[in-house]
Amino acid sequence: MIDLRSDTVTRPTEELWDAMYKAPVGDDVFREDPGLNALEDEISSLFGKEAGVFVPSGTMGNQIGLKVHTQPADEVIIDEFAHIYHSEGAAGGLISGIQLRPLAGIRGVLSTNQVKNAIRSRNDWDPCTRVVALENTSNMGGGSCYAIDTIRDLYHLTRDHHLALHMDGARIWNASVATGTELKEYGAFCDTISVCFSKGLGAPVGSMLLGSNKQMRLARRYRKILGGGMRQAGMLAAAASYAVHHHFDKLPEDHRKAKKLAETIAESSFFEIQPEQVETNIVLFRVVRGTVAEALDWFASQNVAMIPFGDNTIRATFHFQITEDDLDHALRAVESYNGI
Ligand SMILES: Cc1ncc(COP(=O)(O)O)c(C=O)c1O
Repeated sequence: MIDLRSDTVTRPTEELWDAMYKAPVGDDVFREDPGLNALEDEISSLFGKEAGVFVPSGTMGNQIGLKVHTQPADEVIIDEFAHIYHSEGAAGGLISGIQLRPLAGIRGVLSTNQVKNAIRSRNDWDPCTRVVALENTSNMGGGSCYAIDTIRDLYHLTRDHHLALHMDGARIWNASVATGTELKEYGAFCDTISVCFSKGLGAPVGSMLLGSNKQMRLARRYRKILGGGMRQAGMLAAAASYAVHHHFDKLPEDHRKAKKLAETIAESSFFEIQPEQVETNIVLFRVVRGTVAEALDWFASQNVAMIPFGDNTIRATFHFQITEDDLDHALRAVESYNGI
């Protein structure tokens, strides 16, 4: 099966297994895992942040990020497509007692003006705006990217209003290669960033929250409270490190393949897509004749797996284990779709 459901479905390569097998390990709760300590140092300096805390998942990275910045009854401004809003089980309410304020951006990307207009006054009855949380790339937005100028403007806006800027950078690697933005630039204009090793980079597990020394001391405490303190996690650090060093460079290929699929989909009268909107590895397209279920069944019968993604929409996502032959096969499946 050519698995285009997600970039989280990659399997460890032999080399990645080997790196994990040979990893030096220690007890990370005692801060004694050499590989994990090295990874936290390396990734935080890649982004120009003081410190990083390795966490099991992107969800934990985001939620600890929000917890670090907020008190109960604070409000977080977010795009209505955000993973934090849709796919983290309302964890912000459970863990931090916060309220999310979703705004309708363009394909998951907020403008400075709309954020500015959403910042509350400080009346007793107003929720207290405390954080602006961006998602870059935006998953539900179809892998769309923030321009660094917008992030910089939002950063200055948040300074003016004493707010924190958090970035869900699960796919920040894809955003960086697609826009030519240095990772350090993201670090310079966000207070905290949560990055994932287990999406397009292809590590089996792991994310990291990045921020200041003070924020990350608190983050480490919250991670332990949430049960995310791991022991010989160096084997996971080795996988993450291998992924950053060997798979980051492969992302442009994923983007090229995604664009090619989008261009072929655009030729079909059964589907609707604007290929120029495909910026990274995610392809969202609407089914305009027949149903999503029929189209997915057809693709599955052709050994191509994709997933439904709301409102007559299908998502196909590329990663480094989708080969050129796989792409060709998927293109033929799109071209030969005739309804069922
Ligand atoms: C944009 C975004 N943020 C966060 C996450 C959460 O990552 P995890 O599944 O590791 O919790 C995902 C997962 O797909 C995601 O797409």
